[in-house]
Amino acid sequence: AERTYIMVKPDGVQRGLVGEIIARFEKRGFKLIALKLEHATKEHLEKHYADLKDKPFFPGLIKYMASGPVVAMVWEGLDAVKTGRVMLGATNPLASAPGTIRGDYALAVGRNICHGSDSVESAEKEIALWFPEGVIQHTMASAEWVFE
Ligand code: GTP
Ligand code: MG
Repeated sequence: AERTYIMVKPDGVQRGLVGEIIARFEKRGFKLIALKLEHATKEHLEKHYADLKDKPFFPGLIKYMASGPVVAMVWEGLDAVKTGRVMLGATNPLASAPGTIRGDYALAVGRNICHGSDSVESAEKEIALWFPEGVIQHTMASAEWVFE
């Protein structure tokens, strides 16, 4: 099954939105296979956002992401990468549809409370970066009621 890397950013943690974000992925039917709270170093975050290193907002992005702990997670299920992005909503919360996480809880692009992998390739890289120890493979009792 497909896997995606989902992260509650420092503003999401400080605003008490961890449970809400986890609940949405759980209720949708995805399976949680890795989870931890981590106060990431700038070096680690620079690797995570390496593709954006030439953007003008990059230094601010790294500072924001290093400003407090994040909740790192891996979720597994049908079309997890694309569906995860749809659940997060557009990058700029001003354009995020109501009903999405950003569309319901955020206003500013530089404080958009959550991250989701943008492709299966990125997901594999991000999961290896954040969970070098690996993920937990298990079977959920609900699987046969979620998948055909
Ligand atoms: P992530 O899930 O965090 O990777 O967001 P994304 O894939 O929707 O967007 P992208 O990877 O292009 O940008 C990463 C993050 O950088 C965004 O989530 C924003 O927090 C931030 N960002 C992107 N564009 C801008 C911008 O124009 N200004 C500012 N201040 N931040 C931006
Ligand atoms: Mg991105």
